[in-house]
Amino acid sequence: MQITRDKVLEALGNVIEPDLKKDIISQNLVEDLKVEGNAISLTVNVVNPALHARKRMQEAVNFALKRVLGDGIEVATTVVGLPVEAKNVRRKILPDVKYIVAVASGKGGVGKSTVTANLAGGLAKAGFKVGIVDADIYGPSMPTMFDIVGERPGQTEVDGEKKMLPVPSYGIPIMSIGFFTDPDNAVVWRGPMASKALTQMFTDTHWGELDYLLIDLPPGTGDIHLSLVQTVPLDGAVIVSTPQEVALADARKGVNMFKLDNIKVPVLGLIENMAWFTPAELPDNKYYIFGRDGVKNLAEGLGENFLGHIPLVQSVREAGDIGRPAVYQENTPISNAFDELVRKFVETLQKLKK
Ligand SMILES: Nc1ncnc2c1ncn2[C@@H]1O[C@H](COP(=O)(O)OP(=O)(O)OP(=O)(O)O)[C@@H](O)[C@H]1O
Ligand SMILES: [Mg+2]
Repeated sequence: MQITRDKVLEALGNVIEPDLKKDIISQNLVEDLKVEGNAISLTVNVVNPALHARKRMQEAVNFALKRVLGDGIEVATTVVGLPVEAKNVRRKILPDVKYIVAVASGKGGVGKSTVTANLAGGLAKAGFKVGIVDADIYGPSMPTMFDIVGERPGQTEVDGEKKMLPVPSYGIPIMSIGFFTDPDNAVVWRGPMASKALTQMFTDTHWGELDYLLIDLPPGTGDIHLSLVQTVPLDGAVIVSTPQEVALADARKGVNMFKLDNIKVPVLGLIENMAWFTPAELPDNKYYIFGRDGVKNLAEGLGENFLGHIPLVQSVREAGDIGRPAVYQENTPISNAFDELVRKFVETLQKLKK
């Protein structure tokens, strides 16, 4: 039988996307379809990025094609686990940003902002283009951590539209909710106003081309998080926690929030911050003051990825306070820990796209 593109499309029309409950052709989920002789290759998008869901889709596609076109065909199906809704929104907002990733926690003060700043610094050091959105409406930290307190975003015009320009520090463009308020007069951002301000940092800001845009979320799992993660097309989230029990309970809530049916953002992994204390004068000593491996064990228990331990070191706090993230230190245990975190982070996102 002559294998035509039309016949392939017809066969694929029988494959149902389980979450959307509609076929993959009518939902525009098929990309890069190539038909050459009896070889067919294609990419299919699925809502659920989990490995088993992608595998099932691959089997369904192969089965449907062989049923209509016979066993003589060769099929190469790649299934991509990106939320479709996110992809569609993405085309309109931030089309030039490859990955948008939120840094979240359940509990406050566990080191989200510290991790965001150092992850960004580490990615930039590794040669990636990275930007930061500081979405912490309760207490924005990026201006302090990057020594840009009191700065204001610039303005530019793109295709006749006015856009804000993020403030650069260490070559990293940064937008912070803190740029819109006077640091000495804390503004209580109310729900709708906060949502609007947050959305503007994405849609009304000229980010240009980026490999990674990291979002430092406020602590908790409330409405503001829900509205943010629903408006911004997130590719993933990392959860930061300390190993102590009260933090772990909240970290679990954080993980669950991203897994909600109407959110479905892949959890890239958990990070154990303040994993142990190491005094500067005794660099080989480790004191497990918040308990040992609590986050690592939680990740294992939930079947989630573990991205690494970050020790509690005085210079991390100092670096945050003077506005030069610790990852910029030369070959210290702490800069190495952040570099390793960066390596795992990059690797995890790459795997997710496959
Ligand atoms: N590994 C670490 N070693 C030493 N100090 C740390 C470490 N991680 C965070 N800190 C310090 O702990 C404090 C809280 O960290 P950070 O602001 O990053 O937490 P957060 O989760 O963003 O807090 P919030 O919920 O208020 O946004 C900061 O002073 C920071 O410098
Ligand atoms: Mg913070």
